[in-house]
Amino acid sequence: MSEQRYNVFNQIHKGLRGMLYDTALCIQQTDFTQSEARATVDQLEQVLHFFDEHAENEDQFILPHIRPHNAPLIDELEKDHDIDHQLTQTLLDQIRDWRATDAAAPRETIGQRLGYAFNEFIAFNLYHMNKEENVLMYLLWTHYTDAKIRQMEARILQSIPLPTLLAESRWMMRSINDKEVIEWLSGVKKEAPAPVFDTFLGIANDELPLERLARVQAALETE
Ligand SMILES: [Fe+2]
Repeated sequence: MSEQRYNVFNQIHKGLRGMLYDTALCIQQTDFTQSEARATVDQLEQVLHFFDEHAENEDQFILPHIRPHNAPLIDELEKDHDIDHQLTQTLLDQIRDWRATDAAAPRETIGQRLGYAFNEFIAFNLYHMNKEENVLMYLLWTHYTDAKIRQMEARILQSIPLPTLLAESRWMMRSINDKEVIEWLSGVKKEAPAPVFDTFLGIANDELPLERLARVQAALETE
């Protein structure tokens, strides 16, 4: 059996997708004429911020390593990130317009437009993340060891502000399976100081249903 290679995109992309799906459902359930819609608008703005930062990190810390091996692919992925930027700007403009008015009729219209624009954003990003995991990742595997790929990831992690990292970790915890949670937390347990492990265990406590949490805790105790 061939050795399982490291998918550097798996966990962060699952977290980002979880956030996309959750936000899409929130948008569908939101009456944009009401001021309670503010929570949905805030969450939408946070998703956009996380995707923007994620794209920037990939542009800076991952794509340059593949450019010497496949420049056209990197051009395409960078162009995707530009298109994503335009989709994001459309949504940010709509968010600004929604916040600028109290009147029900324009708020409702903007809410509808927001929904359509976010669908475009989701569709584009689902294809884009698949491309990264189906094409870019195999090039990384061909040209770099897992140790080197983990170094690229470590540089990304170091560049993310702590509050963002913790908020993204919460979405990752909500969006991955038990095996992935166990691997993640046992890695933190082995490599990070105890208070860091406690923080991540706290996120698992907050986010996992009791049955899943019990399975994760049992697995961590046997390590
Ligand atoms: Fe990505």
